[in-house]
Amino acid sequence: MNTEDKNYLVVDQLVKWFGSDRAVNGISFSIEKGSFLTLLGPSGCGKTTTLMSIAGLHAIDAGEIRVGDTIYTSREKKIFLPPEKRDIGMVFQSYAIWPHMTVKQNVAYPLEIRKLHADEIDERVNKVLELVGLSEMAEKLATQLSGGQQQRTALARAIVSNPRLLLFDEPLSNLDLKLREQMRVELKRIQNEVGITSIYVTHDQSEALVMSDEIIVMSKGRIEQRDPPLAVYSKPVNEYVSQFIGVANLLKGKVLSEAESGKGKVDISTSITGLSCDCLLSSEMKKGDEVVVSVRPENVSVSRDNTDSSGIEGKVNAAIFMGNCVDCRITSGSYEWKVLTHPRENLNEGDRVFLHLDPEHTLAVTP
Ligand SMILES: Nc1ncnc2c1ncn2[C@@H]1O[C@H](COP(=O)(O)OP(=O)(O)OP(=O)(O)O)[C@@H](O)[C@H]1O
Ligand SMILES: [Mg+2]
Repeated sequence: MNTEDKNYLVVDQLVKWFGSDRAVNGISFSIEKGSFLTLLGPSGCGKTTTLMSIAGLHAIDAGEIRVGDTIYTSREKKIFLPPEKRDIGMVFQSYAIWPHMTVKQNVAYPLEIRKLHADEIDERVNKVLELVGLSEMAEKLATQLSGGQQQRTALARAIVSNPRLLLFDEPLSNLDLKLREQMRVELKRIQNEVGITSIYVTHDQSEALVMSDEIIVMSKGRIEQRDPPLAVYSKPVNEYVSQFIGVANLLKGKVLSEAESGKGKVDISTSITGLSCDCLLSSEMKKGDEVVVSVRPENVSVSRDNTDSSGIEGKVNAAIFMGNCVDCRITSGSYEWKVLTHPRENLNEGDRVFLHLDPEHTLAVTP
């Protein structure tokens, strides 16, 4: 793959103000051609603003956006390509399909604007409708469709002209949970098949984990971390990402010692008297640094006895049966651990247990 494909879309030092509010605060990222990147973060962190800036629906205050050799927006070079020249397909939360048109007419619309030959329009529309599973619905009015079908129509319309970029802004958030889960997989399959470079905006972390090739975690107009889903989940770079993605036990601590290959010992005695734990340190962490120890609930193991005296003593406060696992709250010192156990361990409220941390899955992160 050449570097042009690696950096297909480039967002460079993008800044966007609304009045005295800095919605996007100098973010930079690039996307590989054909890949699926998600902007994930809480409400108000600047996801939509970033997307709108790429689409050309916002003027920006600083920075540059380009796709391939084409500069879409550059403050410095005083370039602003109008939205209709950017060759971008968009799918929003509100389906934004035309109610007075049939599914087929909705999907054909972008091609009609381009004045394509009727036969070609027909062929391409039929192909896309088949891809999104709406062939049977082609002649139905948009108003006769379910939410999921309307969103498939919107998707078909966005991809029918084979745009350079696809932008999604929370497209599934109006659907009920079951349909949302089904559409995640479906949407990813379709994106994969058409291979259009996509940016997907959501505040739903499980959606991001399921669908993305890579995730950018944002907060307050900035990028906190960019990584593939597994790395964002298992190697969060800081406390913010740890608590935003999934569930984590987070304990304040101080680095006691550094060993080779990124390992070390962290004192967590402010939470649990006299306790320190072995964990993975990031390269810049030094002895004496304040850190936060992050452990996923599925990475804490529990035993009834403490044969090698390495366990952390605790008491089960709650054990909630979830079917395939038991969600436990276990207190040791002033800290309440969240621990996922197997039902056959048969933990019950009031049980005295010992917790064991795996140094390979115990992470020191930046506060
Ligand atoms: N048109 C606008 N006028 C004024 N302020 C705006 C406008 N659009 C966004 N903002 C502000 O910019 C910030 C970022 O908003 P943005 O819509 O990008 O957030 P978001 O991450 O998409 O959030 P959500 O998950 O709620 O959609 C917020 O503080 C918001 O109030
Ligand atoms: Mg938004």
